[in-house]
Amino acid sequence: MNVMDAIRTRKSVRAYLDKPVEDEKLNIVLEAGRMAPSASNRQEWRFVIVRDVDTRKKLVRAAGNQLFIGKAPVVIVACADTDEHVMKCGQPCYPIDVAIALDHITLMAVELGLGTCWIGHFDEKEVKKILDIPEKIRVIELMPLGYPTKPSAVEKMRLPLEKIVRYEQW
Ligand SMILES: Cc1cc2nc3c(=O)[nH]c(=O)nc-3n(C[C@H](O)[C@H](O)[C@H](O)COP(=O)(O)O)c2cc1C
Repeated sequence: MNVMDAIRTRKSVRAYLDKPVEDEKLNIVLEAGRMAPSASNRQEWRFVIVRDVDTRKKLVRAAGNQLFIGKAPVVIVACADTDEHVMKCGQPCYPIDVAIALDHITLMAVELGLGTCWIGHFDEKEVKKILDIPEKIRVIELMPLGYPTKPSAVEKMRLPLEKIVRYEQW
């Protein structure tokens, strides 16, 4: 599968088969995340891999009862062990860097026949309590990972290039 195919095929998966993700595949998607670029190569991302059913149920509650999260056999809890460095441009590095790693993960997952969904709707304090995550660590996203029940028929709704790109000047 080439990169554009993976990009076009990736869609939010909100229904998962009751089938475990093989360790080998999990390691490949994590390796894709590990290879991501980051500001000054800080690599502040940290991933907590949750397979335990009861812990997944707790994460569901911390994520506003988005039940499908608990149906995925794996939830990747993407964190940052960060010095909160802000780049010259005014943007903090860590949410950007963690997001890049997660995007690598989503695309690698597609190639392996796996599905993912970004989850930003969750209570960080609650997630930290559930997983015993130290105070100084930030939780950036939750990402369920598993085999989709079926390929999504939902059309990708995106703005046209003319709307989002300007050439030379705003
Ligand atoms: C940062 C971020 C947070 C998101 N949070 C949630 C979420 O909490 N729950 C959910 O069901 N989808 C969530 N999504 C998925 C988006 O709704 C989805 O990516 C968007 O509608 C485009 O659809 P697609 O992923 O199928 O291309 C999130 C996506 C991103 C990038």
